[in-house]
Amino acid sequence: MHENDGRRIARYDLVTPMLPCKQEILAGVDRLLSTGEYILGREVRALETEMAAACGAADAVGVASGSAALYLALQIAGVGPGVEVVTTPYTFVATIEAIIRLGGTPVFADIDPRTLNLDPAHAAAAVTGRTRVLLPVHIFGMPCEMEPLALTAERHGLDLVEDMCQAYGSLYRGRPCGSFGRLSCLSFYPTKNLPGIGDGGMILCRDAADTAPLRRLRGHETVRLGGRLLSGWNSRLDEIQALAIRVRLARFADEQADRDRAAAIYNELVPEANRLAEPQPGSGLRVTHHQYWIRVPDRARLEARLREAGVDFGIYYAPPLHRHELAEYCRVHGELTHAEAAGREVLALPIHQALPERDAIRIGELVKEHLARAA
Ligand SMILES: Cc1ncc(COP(=O)(O)O)c(C=O)c1O
Repeated sequence: MHENDGRRIARYDLVTPMLPCKQEILAGVDRLLSTGEYILGREVRALETEMAAACGAADAVGVASGSAALYLALQIAGVGPGVEVVTTPYTFVATIEAIIRLGGTPVFADIDPRTLNLDPAHAAAAVTGRTRVLLPVHIFGMPCEMEPLALTAERHGLDLVEDMCQAYGSLYRGRPCGSFGRLSCLSFYPTKNLPGIGDGGMILCRDAADTAPLRRLRGHETVRLGGRLLSGWNSRLDEIQALAIRVRLARFADEQADRDRAAAIYNELVPEANRLAEPQPGSGLRVTHHQYWIRVPDRARLEARLREAGVDFGIYYAPPLHRHELAEYCRVHGELTHAEAAGREVLALPIHQALPERDAIRIGELVKEHLARAA
């Protein structure tokens, strides 16, 4: 018998947060069906403008997915055969797929165990004469240390590209993620904090001049850039996705407040040594908790306990990417001790806009009890 009145507590709820949006989205779809403007129309353009404004970018380009965003951003940043991109091994495989598909080499540097993000000192040490891009990933909605990373990029003449697929709405020193890199990549996959009702993505551009080649490449046009001939592809964003994302964007602050409430409950119950530290007042740091992670040395036992209690959970990124099959195409810089440990110890608890308070308390208490017993 489960302890939540027999209910399973799911990690995601992709239906309830959509309910208040449903009529507006259906009305929008009805409008689209009468105009025939299905792809790259007014909704996409409006979303590009709104997202650029929200993230402190000059402009934005809507594309088919976060993966397409990474591919196109790295393509115009000059990634290709013989070119290295320094990034984290503790990320979703899409981050390196884009580099590998362009013929470039992902180079893994270790992470900071406190944040699970790329360690700026390790990243700087991994740079060689072949490096052209620094690709930090704001993992689970926690902003990377952008100041030292930007300094390294500047010192070595590299492009800084942000993988912010998990971090729309996050702030570093008061500035939005997406405002630091030359280019920043977003995903609107349905489980993301700002979701669509299918696949979608976007590239934020610090310099509006970058939007022209990106707009051409996303729609099968060829681009000549710095002596290189770049091939286009179908990476377009649909109007239905753009209109659904715009409806959610208008509600983002309220939805984020619901996630913040769940995170605050977990923060109270889970000891700080086993989770992300709360931001210091005045730090300007804002974490959107795409995932709420905890770390437990005896993870298998907690997994069994959660399963028994009917609580869903996530295991990321185990093993990290330097142990993925695609590591054959990558270079590893030094020992990735902290990424290894994260792969063994990190576990993501359910967090979403519609998580009932009593469920968050129940889960937090269960974790607290487990940690106390293990100590
Ligand atoms: C860190 C990271 N990068 C890239 C992606 C790829 O995004 P998409 O699934 O929209 O292609 C994701 C999303 O799943 C992600 O979490």
